[in-house]
Amino acid sequence: TYPENGRFEWSAPSNIALVKYWGKIEPQLPANPSISFTLDSCKTVTELEFSKRANDGNFSFDLLFEAQPKEDFKPKIIKFFERIERYLPFLKDYHFKIDTRNTFPHSSGIASSASGMAALSVNLMSLEKALNPQMTDDHFWKKASFLARLGSGSACRSVKGEVVVWGKHAEIEGSSDLFGVEFPFGIHPNFKNYQDAILLVEKGQKEVSSTVGHDLMIGHPFAERRFEQAHENLSKVKNSLVSGDLESFISIVESEALTLHAMMMTSNPYFILMKPNTLEIINKIWKFRRETAMPVCFTLDAGANVHVLYPENVAVEVLQFIKDELVAFCKNGEYICDRIGAGAQNF
Ligand code: PMV
Repeated sequence: TYPENGRFEWSAPSNIALVKYWGKIEPQLPANPSISFTLDSCKTVTELEFSKRANDGNFSFDLLFEAQPKEDFKPKIIKFFERIERYLPFLKDYHFKIDTRNTFPHSSGIASSASGMAALSVNLMSLEKALNPQMTDDHFWKKASFLARLGSGSACRSVKGEVVVWGKHAEIEGSSDLFGVEFPFGIHPNFKNYQDAILLVEKGQKEVSSTVGHDLMIGHPFAERRFEQAHENLSKVKNSLVSGDLESFISIVESEALTLHAMMMTSNPYFILMKPNTLEIINKIWKFRRETAMPVCFTLDAGANVHVLYPENVAVEVLQFIKDELVAFCKNGEYICDRIGAGAQNF
């Protein structure tokens, strides 16, 4: 059966990398493996309406953001459709209405490309499954992640699973450069419901887009060593996640964040993406950890915002600390409390 028209609706969350993806091999393969926590409440909800049409050789879609037409995202979607058409050959046989909203504040500086591309990809896979009902679940999820990667690399880690590895790694069975896979080992209870408070230091557009950022690793003097280090750090994070060793977890996660920024500071051209308040927050976290011995750490994306990671059993104390000492360094005092989540959800 060839569905004439219908609709799907899926949400997909953002994710936060513990070992960072920074550097790609064209078109869209990672120069090194990465691992992330999938988030829970920071997500994109996308509704995909489809109706059969005569294929005129073009893509046909309307794009809405919070029910309002959003023309400026169109080129990104066209580029995405061009990349994935060979894997979803029915794309030009349908007219689509793609309506998207984010649960996090607009231009909060939280990247919505991972959650957005993941949500759209899973919706498109639902249509593909309607066309091929015999498809296995495993195929559905792998291909959804594969498509999401072609939209935005890290989006492939936002599709399924609480902890996701993207990129071939010797110790992670089934890992691939082509899609994200769920962490295949049992995770220690210390990481159950792990918390991520996202402190919004800087809002608005990113200073350096990730496309430009990845390109800075081409010919970068430290690139090769960095890519090796990511393999080593992924082994170490893997061991911490299994053993529950929070001390080693913290040391690798913070080092990864600073290394990501160090790569940007040492590229040509160079960038400093941290703000003074980013450093104030990092220093406060270090002081708090020294004084209380609580296993709180930070990580960063390619921007000034700080993700504060901590286990659920210290949540009360850490939230109090955030309110008392860190909120002062956030833009308009804004921060978002999130935690580990499971991936895309169907409505
Ligand atoms: O998926 P992209 O191309 O936006 O790159 C994401 C890069 C970082 O967020 C800095 C690191 C990561 O692994 O998520």
